[in-house]
Amino acid sequence: MRVVVPGGTGQVGGVLRRALRDRGDEVTVLSRRPERLEDGVRHVLWDGRTLGPWAAELEGADAVVNLAGRTVSCRYTDANLRQMMDSRVDSTRAVGLAIARAARAGCAPRVWLQMSTATIYADSRSRGDDLPHDEVDGVLGGEEPDVPLYWEYSVRIARRWEQAQAEADTPTTRRVALRTAMVMTPDRGGVFDYLSWMARLGLGGPVAGGRQFVSWVHGEDFVRAVEFLLARDDLDGPFIVAAPGPVPQRELMRSLRGAWGRRPGLPATRFMAEVGALALRTDTELLLKSRRVVPRRLLEAGFTFAHPAWDAAAVDLVGQARALRRR
Ligand SMILES: NC(=O)c1ccc[n+]([C@@H]2O[C@H](COP(=O)([O-])OP(=O)(O)OC[C@H]3O[C@@H](n4cnc5c(N)ncnc54)[C@H](OP(=O)(O)O)[C@@H]3O)[C@@H](O)[C@H]2O)c1
Repeated sequence: MRVVVPGGTGQVGGVLRRALRDRGDEVTVLSRRPERLEDGVRHVLWDGRTLGPWAAELEGADAVVNLAGRTVSCRYTDANLRQMMDSRVDSTRAVGLAIARAARAGCAPRVWLQMSTATIYADSRSRGDDLPHDEVDGVLGGEEPDVPLYWEYSVRIARRWEQAQAEADTPTTRRVALRTAMVMTPDRGGVFDYLSWMARLGLGGPVAGGRQFVSWVHGEDFVRAVEFLLARDDLDGPFIVAAPGPVPQRELMRSLRGAWGRRPGLPATRFMAEVGALALRTDTELLLKSRRVVPRRLLEAGFTFAHPAWDAAAVDLVGQARALRRR
């Protein structure tokens, strides 16, 4: 396939572009800064906001997988929240305009996979019934009582992100929104690296009780889900891309410490989570919101996960991370 990957320079993009290239796809990454990527992956500049020469890359392509968006691993200041919103909505609109232009020339991509986030769902404790959210019965967030206002804002970002795709005038292109959980990959700088760092220091015990759920997906399964959704012409709309086994935060970290061969971690109060998050320049929402989602539509469509359970996934990822460090 010819696949265009806007925002394909980041953590998820790295895993995806290499996997697509390795299976023989022709991959073009759109990025705002000059960068040399791996052999076999083209790099084209865009601004992430407006139509430009880059739009020609979509003409005759088979697929677009748009990953662009300012990182959410930062303090949720007003300015950062605004950038998180604008970078997602603007880049998605730009991709939509480029596909519409290609459609007028009679050569639109067949399918557009648009990154979204499992954060679009309500804090799972707010339902009171402790049920996981799925695409059919799940409750979108934004109106739960007793959550900080900016949690609501990050749901609004997710909704507007998906809306930008839904509103695009691209009738001949199949559209899928990837409501993705934390993507666990062994490389440096990603969420797994950060959690592992805490586990190896003996930190990362239960945060604020640790009963809040964490939804996650192994990077290999993320790639496999993308490949599955690219191939299946009968599937469109929102898909949760998360392992079927979300785990409470305390269990997530317990398994991870076990996989690294470490002792029990120190518990952290909500206050300590605030301090730790400040030191890491990230936000407590990422630690405290209960995210419990299950991939109902993928499972019903026949997708199987290579890494459905966290215990085994953690062991696999630690093994891969150790091998990377030895190189
Ligand atoms: N990692 C996860 O666990 C996870 C889970 C769910 C959803 N997601 C979403 O998936 C996407 C990719 O995640 P990631 O972890 O690979 O993120 P990442 O490492 O931060 O990469 C995101 C990419 O977006 C581009 N970007 C940043 N700001 C932009 C802007 N203002 N306009 C246009 N492009 C911009 C950057 O490309 P250039 O700087 O090269 O232009 C960057 O490579 C993000 O949208 C993220 O929110 C990630």
